[in-house]
Amino acid sequence: MTETAKTATLSFDGKSFELPMHSPTAGPDVIDIRKLYADAGVFTYDPGFTSTASCDSTITYIDGGAGVLLHRGYPIDQLAAKSHYLEVCYLLLYGELPTAAQLEDFELRVTRHTMIHEQMHNFFRGFRRDAHPMATMVGVVGAMSAFYHDSTDISDPWQREVASIRLVAKMPTIAAMAYKYSIGQPFVYPRNDLDYAANFLHMCFSVPAEKYEVNPILSRAMDRIFTLHADHEQNASTSTVRLASSSGANPFACIAAGIACLWGPAHGGANQACLEMLKEIGSVERIPEFIARAKDKDDPFRLMGFGHRVYKNFDPRAKVMKQSADEVLDLLGIEDNPILQVAKELEKQALEDPYFAEKKLFPNVDFYSGIILEAMGFPTSMFTPIFALSRTVGWISQWKEMIGDPQMKIGRPRQLYLGETERDYVDVEDR
Ligand code: CMC
Repeated sequence: MTETAKTATLSFDGKSFELPMHSPTAGPDVIDIRKLYADAGVFTYDPGFTSTASCDSTITYIDGGAGVLLHRGYPIDQLAAKSHYLEVCYLLLYGELPTAAQLEDFELRVTRHTMIHEQMHNFFRGFRRDAHPMATMVGVVGAMSAFYHDSTDISDPWQREVASIRLVAKMPTIAAMAYKYSIGQPFVYPRNDLDYAANFLHMCFSVPAEKYEVNPILSRAMDRIFTLHADHEQNASTSTVRLASSSGANPFACIAAGIACLWGPAHGGANQACLEMLKEIGSVERIPEFIARAKDKDDPFRLMGFGHRVYKNFDPRAKVMKQSADEVLDLLGIEDNPILQVAKELEKQALEDPYFAEKKLFPNVDFYSGIILEAMGFPTSMFTPIFALSRTVGWISQWKEMIGDPQMKIGRPRQLYLGETERDYVDVEDR
């Protein structure tokens, strides 16, 4: 394994403990504390996991200081420019770029699974029309475990493979159906002659009454959004998927847990929150007021789409996304859109402000993705579902890696208990 000759020494109460260390292929060394409690009788304390590696992984590497994001070693900007989403899915799932024949076979397998069980249509209809599409997705993806029993046995590698393909293939169909249901339009069946991104646009924007041509520039931009969100190592939703699956739960239940976690505004919900914030700001003149609020410690307001736990110089995904936003807005002829004006000016003013510079707060991927999605015609409520469908392959790749690891253990963090010590129960009349 990766264990080195180096060790770390932990000393307290006059005792010393030698801790083994690991050298990763990239990134900082890691102190192995797995035996710490057994040997020294203490826990470590790290809420938010800012200094804790929860697993070892070979899938994605991030150097937050240098703004580097690699999938299986390949830089995200090269993948965004030269590859496409399904090829990146293959790379994440199987570890290497596919040959032409492998890619063709993979695309065929995904395409064959794009439809969902017809009875699931009834399941959608049980939701209120005004349900957030993320609420619908959490429910429907969880319900896949009730429809696809032949791919829930996690001890069978073939069933794991089938579940993986099913999830990648069906997620756009489920997200598009959640959208169609919310606007009262008929569900649109997938079209397997279209590529992955074009098919998603078709399922979202076509209606049976009219012919719909997918604009290739928009489908390319859609594909790039999927690619840029495909995986991001051990973020909150991925860690949720890993923790849920560590108990042996089926993959559909685990991915539903990941979707639920992604929904929060500090994570995947930031793209919706960011666009809503830009709309609330409304005009360039009001930007200083919002920047002042973001800096005010007594105001919980934060600039949505700014900051990242890991990236402390720039988010490499944001760079590509910004370029894509320019292309899409140019194509659609909406460069003078007021939201875009606010976004551009907000970015400029925040980057010039010492508060944001000192705290290393830069626009993240969600700052620009919402602008593109809005220009394409998606309502803000669809932004996070689109993130969820893109990230599904990352969740599954990490899930497969974990299940395939013979050292897998149930995840069970410890705690620093600060509550009452043992005390006797007091009868209600004596309290
Ligand atoms: N606006 C204003 N101040 C901020 C912001 C912000 N967006 N983000 C962080 N800060 C401040 C924060 O108040 C804190 O200040 P202090 O040290 O004085 O207490 C300091 O910067 C560090 O913040 P933190 O919350 O300790 O940092 P974190 O690593 O725990 O949080 C974050 C990272 C992404 C949750 C946070 O930057 C944030 O809430 N950003 C806005 C939401 C957002 O855009 N999220 C999308 C992230 S990218 C996509 C994804 O991963 O899903």
